[in-house]
Amino acid sequence: MIYVKIVFGSSENMKEVSSSSVHLVVMSPPYYNAPFDFPNLFSSYDEFLELLRKVGREVYRVLQPGRYACYVTQDVRIEGKLYPIIADLIRIRSTRLVSSTRRRSSGGSPRAHKDI
Ligand SMILES: C[S@@+](CC[C@H](N)C(=O)[O-])C[C@H]1O[C@@H](n2cnc3c(N)ncnc32)[C@H](O)[C@@H]1O
Repeated sequence: MIYVKIVFGSSENMKEVSSSSVHLVVMSPPYYNAPFDFPNLFSSYDEFLELLRKVGREVYRVLQPGRYACYVTQDVRIEGKLYPIIADLIRIRSTRLVSSTRRRSSGGSPRAHKDI
């Protein structure tokens, strides 16, 4: 039997989920203030990136060591200006990605890393 629990809340704080208990995270965060998504949801691009930072830390907390988080996202252009969401997301989480890749390429298995 599969048990499904739906929680309504912000992924910034997933207090209902124990640390190191999740095998896979798949998420589709807002595309900043894209007209096709949620225009004017954020007051600034920095505010949007701060949300990605907070959610990223929380996702890292709930994931079991060595497990993966998949982000469904893309860069967006709003009123002619390009917002490089993918590059910024990689930069925000890069310490962990680089660390994990290095461990794997050196023959070791991915382990928990210090949070950023
Ligand atoms: C690009 S849409 C993804 C929609 C989803 N893939 C679907 O098919 O319904 C972004 C979603 O992020 C949700 N969202 C925005 N801020 C959030 C937050 N702090 N925590 C969790 N979800 C959030 C929005 O409500 C919206 O449903």
